[in-house]
Amino acid sequence: MKQRIEDLRSLINYHNHRYYVLDSPEISDEEYDELMRELRQLEAEHPDLITSDSPTQRIGAPPVEEFGVVEHPEPLLSLANAFSYEDLAAWHRRASNLLGGSYFDLVCEPKIDGLAVALTYIDGLLVTGATRGDGYRGENITQNLKTIRSIPLSVSKEEAPPRFEVRGEVYIPREGFKKLNEERAREGLPLFANPRNAAAGSVRQLDSSITAKRPLDIFVYGLGPVEGKAVPDTHWEIMQWLKSAGFKVNPNIALCRTLDEAEEYHQKWLEGRESWPYEADGMVVKVNSIAFQGELGTVARESRWAIAYKFPAVQGTTRLIGIGINVGRTGSLNPYAILEPVHVGGVVISSAALHNEEDIHRKDIRIGDTVIVQRAGEVIPEIVKHVESLRSKNAKEFSMREKAWEIYKKRKGIGDEVQPPDHTICPVCGAEVIKPEDEAMHRCTNAACPAQALEQIKHFVARNAMDIDGVGEKLCQALFEKGLVKDVADLYYLTPKQLLGLEKMADKSVSNVLESIDASKDRPLARVIFALGILHVGEEYAELLADKFSSIDEMAKTGREELLSLPSIGPKIADSIVAFFRQKGNKNIIEKLRKAGVKLEKERVAEAKPEKLPLTGLEFVITGKLESFTRSQAEARVKKLGGKAGSDVTKETSYLVVGADPGSKLAKAEELGIKALSEAEFLELLNQNTS
Ligand code: IVH
Repeated sequence: MKQRIEDLRSLINYHNHRYYVLDSPEISDEEYDELMRELRQLEAEHPDLITSDSPTQRIGAPPVEEFGVVEHPEPLLSLANAFSYEDLAAWHRRASNLLGGSYFDLVCEPKIDGLAVALTYIDGLLVTGATRGDGYRGENITQNLKTIRSIPLSVSKEEAPPRFEVRGEVYIPREGFKKLNEERAREGLPLFANPRNAAAGSVRQLDSSITAKRPLDIFVYGLGPVEGKAVPDTHWEIMQWLKSAGFKVNPNIALCRTLDEAEEYHQKWLEGRESWPYEADGMVVKVNSIAFQGELGTVARESRWAIAYKFPAVQGTTRLIGIGINVGRTGSLNPYAILEPVHVGGVVISSAALHNEEDIHRKDIRIGDTVIVQRAGEVIPEIVKHVESLRSKNAKEFSMREKAWEIYKKRKGIGDEVQPPDHTICPVCGAEVIKPEDEAMHRCTNAACPAQALEQIKHFVARNAMDIDGVGEKLCQALFEKGLVKDVADLYYLTPKQLLGLEKMADKSVSNVLESIDASKDRPLARVIFALGILHVGEEYAELLADKFSSIDEMAKTGREELLSLPSIGPKIADSIVAFFRQKGNKNIIEKLRKAGVKLEKERVAEAKPEKLPLTGLEFVITGKLESFTRSQAEARVKKLGGKAGSDVTKETSYLVVGADPGSKLAKAEELGIKALSEAEFLELLNQNTS
């Protein structure tokens, strides 16, 4: 029996590979189904013989509540873009210089528009499949990836390294995308905007049986860390090895000896890509030699050994019906185009970025114009130009000052009899707006501008910042509007009572929210720096700064000159950092964060010298419901001050903290003569011992 099961598995795996990877089946669908049916039946009779790599295991597992986190042993980096041959040549020159003028060949591959995944195989078995996430930590989506039939569940143990990671792009082919959306339309479900979104949405389903129904596929494009066996010297050979091991490698990859060959290849596929059964937004050009790749290394999360050579964007024509203004997190007034909806490359576009007033005037774009819009991959659509021959006499020039006043007036219900101010004001708070000489952006000068504050809060909780799960844009808005959270630090002072008063907030969600807020106190320094939302300090710079400084305080103390002496920090960033820490409002926020227990340094002081903390040696047990925080928050505060949090009253217990409706623990404490603290006494004790 065991033998028959094993034979069936290898037979099915063989035909799977022929069908899903090589696209050349040898048997009919009916014959294949018959093999599967037999295997399923035998496994049902002998469940002890089911293995994790059995083809029957691809149908999906029971739903999960949330995905686990996978730390990538080596980060999944991103690529810089080249939009022209000149960009590509400049990249090539730089690489050549860094390699001391040595000759190197290149591999060109279609850049698939899907999402990156990392597949880890141990002893030949697929054990983990993860999303890229922020590059360092992704989500564990193993069950979902197992449903993709072109991903091998196992590879030959004899030939494969004992442990290795394969990286690739999961995508939905054009045809599958069309069918999926047709089906959704029939069922009255919202349509996916593009195949990329559909793929991302499908692999992130908590119920993998839904994923199993989506037409997902993969192309693998490289190896991650490998243990126990040498890898080939070139990317090309690695791809050949992956292919022979059963992985799906794009058939359109090419080895190019020169830059011109790469250019020819790019040109050839510019038109030809329409015949590909999937969407690609460019070619990835890679240095072939693995040793050279290592020498070139990475800079600010981007690999220098590869570049994405983009295909030109797709364009469409429509009418500009209006211009709105958003106020961003850093106070910038961002104009955006309101467009008559138009299909561009399979996506409906109804708004586009307009950057700034100067740009609008430079392109001479007027409201009412017929305009050409373009979309390049995931980038926000842009207006390229207006169509001069179609311009009407009534087309109206845009003025930031007039528009901002008009929006403000409407918001506040101000009548037409009121004279407009002689300067530009913020459309949200009405404060004065400035436009620094060397900057194209208008900025609201009011640090307490509600638009900025709200955007800052949204930025702070975001996934790539403090990653506060459960606190999304809507909740931020509600907390802000109710005045419960006026700045980012207020998040850490929320009480269950305050949250319960909000719409859709029941006990369970309140404690989830408070717990994730609490969990965010321990984020790495780089995330905290990024989350503070200092103008011009994006994720990469936050990483750089966290490398250089051991704490926020050290960074705050550093002067302009010293900042400028750091590699990659220019005057714009240095000035912005200095200005940020000079602002009183920001100083207050940092102090509030510190008081709340948010880690503002690289190493936790509590871990470094536990013996010196005020509650060291004391054990607290909590019973009943506390008003000011959840149990885990209270325990976290105790631990932060060096104390221990116990779950049962024992001789070791120093204090029993008694909330509402205490259980049997109170009687036990009395019996053992252990001191009981009311919530107020407990709070006082914590506050007395918190500097
Ligand atoms: S190589 C450091 N090859 O593009 C280089 N990436 O911005 C690692 N992608 O996250 C990537 N097709 O999701 C590589 N043939 C290909 C690709 C490819 C699509 C995606 C990948 C990555 C992003 C890079």
